[in-house]
Amino acid sequence: MVDQLVAAGSIRSAAVERAFRVVPRHAFAPGVPLVQAYAQDIVVVKRDDYGRTISSVSAPGIQAMQLEQAGIKPGERCLEIGSGGYNAALMAEVTGGEGSVTTIDIDPDVINRARTFLAEAGYAGVEAACVDGEDGYAPNAPYDKIIVTVGSWDVPPAWTDQLAPGGTITVPLRMRGHTRSLVLRRDGDRLVSESAQVCGFVSMQGLGGHAERLLKLHGDMIGLRFDDGGVPSDPSVLDGVLDTPRAEVWSGVVVGRMEPFDTLHLWLARLDGYCLMSVDRRLDSGVVSPQNKMACPALIDAGSLAYLAIRRLGDAEVEFGAHGYGPDGAAVAETLVEELRAWDQDHRGGPGPRIAVYPISTPDAELPPGLVIDKRHRRVVVSWP
Ligand SMILES: C[S@@+](CC[C@H](N)C(=O)[O-])C[C@H]1O[C@@H](n2cnc3c(N)ncnc32)[C@H](O)[C@@H]1O
Repeated sequence: MVDQLVAAGSIRSAAVERAFRVVPRHAFAPGVPLVQAYAQDIVVVKRDDYGRTISSVSAPGIQAMQLEQAGIKPGERCLEIGSGGYNAALMAEVTGGEGSVTTIDIDPDVINRARTFLAEAGYAGVEAACVDGEDGYAPNAPYDKIIVTVGSWDVPPAWTDQLAPGGTITVPLRMRGHTRSLVLRRDGDRLVSESAQVCGFVSMQGLGGHAERLLKLHGDMIGLRFDDGGVPSDPSVLDGVLDTPRAEVWSGVVVGRMEPFDTLHLWLARLDGYCLMSVDRRLDSGVVSPQNKMACPALIDAGSLAYLAIRRLGDAEVEFGAHGYGPDGAAVAETLVEELRAWDQDHRGGPGPRIAVYPISTPDAELPPGLVIDKRHRRVVVSWP
């Protein structure tokens, strides 16, 4: 497992590699076959009543990515929000005997397991507490490094209050439906992101929980997910939209089939009416052919809709385009395609957007130009160079 993480570039430092070689992952997943414990995948710990995973040992690639992003140094005081034991043990190895690790979780079962496994594996010095991560954990603050291992929609004030001078918060932050693991450093009263990596995490429960709004089309087959607002005031205007003829518009933007294009998502997320389309696999009758059936960028404008589509060009490449439906479907698809071309010309292959997090009280005039996403406690600004 560790050799693969090194080869993939997920592990980049000697300190993180040593931690992964030392901590026995299987000790935090008892009863799970060794091949599964050491696979490049999550180990599910708990599901909710709908069968959705609410607690897991995260995939090792994601843990390595976050540990490398955070850059914990020997002797640092660390807080992990979202527990399980394994990642806290990795953190304890990196920070060493002079440092400290506190791990918190909202779920008492998770904390009881984590405490037991940590003690059995020789990490009794890691303190595990059952609290809502929204409040951080004041008794052991301040922290040089806070690592959040659960999908967050906001950055609660407790996290910055409990941060030591020069400290960072590594957090998977959801912005208009897209989660990026950010490394946030204080700069005056704002936080500036130093790194943004694509990732997926289970969602935050408790006070910081925030559900996306779901609008269903074509019975229950197709869902449009709206995060951070944008749900149409009268969703019935979209009734029957997918029964109209499809307009297809192609962009001339060609990407390799294995080429990452994650900056495109945040680029398109600027647009009014932006949402993510998903197709229920069990009900799918092929009405729509989005680029990705789990979460595909889409735009709505009154009673019209367009989504990102691809067509194959040989074995190695695809061309981006859009499928539009409804009275202005061709125009909405054209808008999407113009944005694809703008991304291709100005941002593809670039460093991606700058992301900064401001207090919610910051007036518009003091924000940089860009997409402003208002949360409960913060205003997140995504700006493009
Ligand atoms: C992906 S798991 C954490 C994995 C863990 N870091 C590991 O060692 O692999 C996410 C955890 O976040 C917890 N969680 C969800 N909402 C929380 C909240 N508000 N405060 C603290 N923990 C929360 C869940 O109970 C779950 O155990």
